[in-house]
Amino acid sequence: MASQGLSRLVLLTWTFLGVSNVLSDPTYETYYLEQKIDHFGFFEDATFRQRYLVSDTRWKKPGGPILFYTGNEGDITLFSNNTGFMWDIAEELGAMLVFAEHRYYGESMPYGNLSYSDPKHLNYLTSEQALADFAVLIRFMKESTEAKHSPVIAIGGSYGGMLAAWMRMKYPQYVVGALAASAPIWQFEDLVPCDLYYQIVTNDFKKSGSGCAESITKSWAAINRMAESDDGIRWLSSAFHLCSPLKSKEEVMAMKSWLSETWVNLAMVDYPYPASFLEPLPAWPIKEVCKYLKNPDLADKELLQNIFEAINVYYNYTGETPCLNTSQTAVGSLSDFGWSYQACTEMVMPFCSDGVNDMFEPQKWDFDAFSDECYKQWGVRPREKWIRTVYGGKNISAASNIIFSNGDLDPWSAGGVKQSLSDSLVAILIPDGAHHLDLRSNNPYDPKSVIQARALEVAYIKKWIQEYRQQLNI
Ligand SMILES: *[C@@H]1O[C@H](CO)[C@@H](O)[C@H](O)[C@H]1NC(C)=O
Ligand SMILES: *[C@@H]1O[C@H](CO)[C@@H](O)[C@H](O)[C@H]1NC(C)=O
Ligand SMILES: *[C@@H]1O[C@H](CO)[C@@H](O)[C@H](O)[C@H]1NC(C)=O
Ligand SMILES: *[C@@H]1O[C@H](CO)[C@@H](O)[C@H](O)[C@H]1NC(C)=O
Ligand SMILES: *[C@@H]1O[C@H](CO)[C@@H](O)[C@H](O)[C@H]1NC(C)=O
Repeated sequence: MASQGLSRLVLLTWTFLGVSNVLSDPTYETYYLEQKIDHFGFFEDATFRQRYLVSDTRWKKPGGPILFYTGNEGDITLFSNNTGFMWDIAEELGAMLVFAEHRYYGESMPYGNLSYSDPKHLNYLTSEQALADFAVLIRFMKESTEAKHSPVIAIGGSYGGMLAAWMRMKYPQYVVGALAASAPIWQFEDLVPCDLYYQIVTNDFKKSGSGCAESITKSWAAINRMAESDDGIRWLSSAFHLCSPLKSKEEVMAMKSWLSETWVNLAMVDYPYPASFLEPLPAWPIKEVCKYLKNPDLADKELLQNIFEAINVYYNYTGETPCLNTSQTAVGSLSDFGWSYQACTEMVMPFCSDGVNDMFEPQKWDFDAFSDECYKQWGVRPREKWIRTVYGGKNISAASNIIFSNGDLDPWSAGGVKQSLSDSLVAILIPDGAHHLDLRSNNPYDPKSVIQARALEVAYIKKWIQEYRQQLNI
């Protein structure tokens, strides 16, 4: 039970990723490539169609570079729509853009509508299979004479950023370098402290207004006291304008997870300009939220009334939300479902909070409880140590040409690479950045730090391209 809130939180927040401003010119063609369902064994010999999008209107052929988005857990058009950075730099680099869909998402379903029906059909949903799909696709593209000498750069954000980095590590013959934005490749085992993630969220609220984080810290006990009586529970339902009234203490506990998820989501999307996500938000939304949370020393009902006003910044900024639904955290069309399977198999990410150094209720990381939940939901158990075994954990100095970019405001930076590991494993920090702000389109309100980060990223990409050409002597 204790870990349920947390694991749910992880699954839901993870999917709140591709959000961004709309593209001006998203012209692309859609293609499909026949891929083996199982690249690593020979018994399952069937194939499926992997979708990928190509935009080559700015491509300098032959031999112009290819920017290759390593698709993550969602419909690939979400990422092509929301990775404005690639569209912005295509002209300057004379680059072709490719967005490759991750298997088991969007239209790339290995077993059609049966793909998610049982553990047997889900068996080929792994990062290794996804990387192999990307390798096969790149090889296929490079078989054309026009792309034969095209250097390929892997680019991705979040889980897609992890895949971009791993693509360079595992298939260096296919990608000359990788931009891994907000990629928490170390959010595994004990590579980073499990409480860092929630501390970053807390710091965002601390920085955004006095009394703010403290009000949230105090709200949990206030809610618990309300949950002691039927009257209190009724009051909560009406004060928070809930669509369906809370019926039990358990439902009040679930409401607390929903609140936590909302605070975390706000930290991820604390962008410097208004952005229309699944929920339209003002610029620097946490500052808006904190306007309601200046006084942590109020009586329970007044404090919670303010929490409601604060949470409404997220759920009702347009004034068009009639009531709040505690089973929805506005995670949109992305497949939190698919990610939940991945988290229950390979992507085991420990999170915890202590209620002292963060504003959340204390919750330990409990792998066994997590594993039991996974078994209940998916009929499989997670392998806690696999990712580090297969991708090297912190021992990745043999790799090269990877940029790890992280925003200080982004909770996912907790598991990111924030110090350069060598001359060519480069960390770029964006002090005013939330979740992969650098991959979003240029915006007049962009802080200087993200403008500088993007310029540096382009400079590295150009350097990799040049080195590749020197090697080939072309
Ligand atoms: C991407 O943008 C296109 C065109 O605006 C839209 O039709 C499509 O639904 C968007 N994809 C997603 C997943 O939002
Ligand atoms: C899957 O798709 C097939 C063919 O399109 C359809 O006949 C079948 O009912 C679908 N099955 C499920 C479980 O949706
Ligand atoms: C959202 O805002 C509108 C307009 O201010 C208001 O009528 C409505 O009650 C609000 N919804 C919630 C859930 O508070
Ligand atoms: C609340 O959200 C859940 C999950 O999306 C949905 O099934 C339910 O119908 C919603 N309830 C209301 C009253 O909108
Ligand atoms: C990996 O790196 C860590 C710390 O840098 C070190 O303690 C450990 O021995 C290394 N493991 C291997 C297998 O090289």
